[in-house]
Amino acid sequence: MSYLVYARKYRPSSFDQVIGQKHVVQTLKNAIKNNRLAHGYIFAGMRGVGKTTVARLLAKSLNCQKGPTPEPCQQCEACKAIQEGQSVDVLEIDGASNRGIDDVRDLREGIQYKPLHSKYKVIIIDEFHMLTPPAFNALLKTLEEPPPNTFFILATTELHKVPATIVSRCQTFEFKKISFSQIVSHLEEITRKESISISNYGIRLIAEKAEGSLRDAQSLLDQAVAFSGDEVRDEDLKEILGTLSHELLFEFSDTIFQGKNKDVFDLVERVVNRGYDLRFFHSELIKHFRNLLVIRSLKNTQDLLTLDDTEIEKMKKQVEGIRSDDILRCLNALQNGEQGLRYSSHPRIYFEIMIVKLCLFKKVMPIQDIIEDLKRIKEKTDSREPSFPESKKANRIQVKNDVRVYDNKKKPTSKMKPKPIKSNEKDQALKEPKVEEFINTFRARILSVNKGEKNN
Ligand SMILES: Nc1ncnc2c1ncn2[C@@H]1O[C@H](COP(=O)(O)OP(=O)(O)O)[C@@H](O)[C@H]1O
Ligand SMILES: [Mg+2]
Ligand SMILES: [Zn+2]
Repeated sequence: MSYLVYARKYRPSSFDQVIGQKHVVQTLKNAIKNNRLAHGYIFAGMRGVGKTTVARLLAKSLNCQKGPTPEPCQQCEACKAIQEGQSVDVLEIDGASNRGIDDVRDLREGIQYKPLHSKYKVIIIDEFHMLTPPAFNALLKTLEEPPPNTFFILATTELHKVPATIVSRCQTFEFKKISFSQIVSHLEEITRKESISISNYGIRLIAEKAEGSLRDAQSLLDQAVAFSGDEVRDEDLKEILGTLSHELLFEFSDTIFQGKNKDVFDLVERVVNRGYDLRFFHSELIKHFRNLLVIRSLKNTQDLLTLDDTEIEKMKKQVEGIRSDDILRCLNALQNGEQGLRYSSHPRIYFEIMIVKLCLFKKVMPIQDIIEDLKRIKEKTDSREPSFPESKKANRIQVKNDVRVYDNKKKPTSKMKPKPIKSNEKDQALKEPKVEEFINTFRARILSVNKGEKNN
């Protein structure tokens, strides 16, 4: 028996097997049942989320000998041929390589003839957005008034490139990304059926790498089994998936948290020497800081992290004593640098500067902290009697009394006029030990940052 890749072996043969995409499946099943199908559909969504699968299922539902039915028999000739993509009445056209006006003219001619073996002709055009403008125009008329026994399914990964005139003549379904947990359970099912031994961590690694595409997940598993056989070890997987050495990431976060800006250049050198693309490394660093933030902020992180236990322990240790605000600040700055790094003509220098800046964060007091400190000082000075020296207290009481008299609308006499306070209240407040201490620390921080910059 010939070997079938998982993506083909596990292609759903009925609507019930489709993972996610409930809104699409439900609507189509109802439309088939109530005989209210549109003649043109657009299936939009990223790669490997079920567009072709659902298109074939719809074709099967229409052409099954017992059809149209939302539950095709799976036994008849039509069902079998369509499942394999071999039915002559279900045309699968690649829009990327048949994108010209002549191709569309041929197609228009072809659909004038009745279907050969089935009741309906179903035309599935993949990567539909790749058609040329004249080809789109040539298709418009057909979509408006298609032959009665013909259905169009236009699949695209880039809906925004399909002209509005076409979109308005079709019913559009947007296929969603497959969720991480759905991919995990699908992979668990395949590995169970195929008796493949793989750790939970390994499955999560694959699911994460697939980024919402079920076909990508299946292909990665294929690749892993081809590499390791039926026992897929975590180490092999990391190699196949090009997962970065976590050690290097830990060294980066340590350098940043400790403010060791001088070490940055060596570290970046090591990244480059190991052959990692800096943009790729940067995105891994973002994920790493995100994980650190999750660990620092939450107690239960079970479903949020794709890390093995030793890595989680290591992270816990690293964020001990680091405030989540500080991790968040780093994460923000890293993310803000993404665009710049992508377009920089000197990505290495750009990346180095970015990391050095992160190191200096430790030495700069966040503005929020400064505001908080100031607030605290203000509250203290407000709530407390100003600490005038004993000798001046009489003066102050005098002022209070004078104001009261003035409030009572009695004409102030020269006697009542508040006597000027000799010692300036502001100067006094600044000499408060707390305030002085604050100003000194603030000054020291600024100095140390300046010094740090000079040293580099
Ligand atoms: N929603 C889904 N439910 C079940 N399997 C899916 C789904 N999406 C993708 N697959 C798997 O991935 C393979 C490719 O899916 P396909 O429908 O061709 O994706 P595309 O959206 O790129 O057309 C299928 O054969 C199937 O095994
Ligand atoms: Mg497809
Ligand atoms: Zn059938």
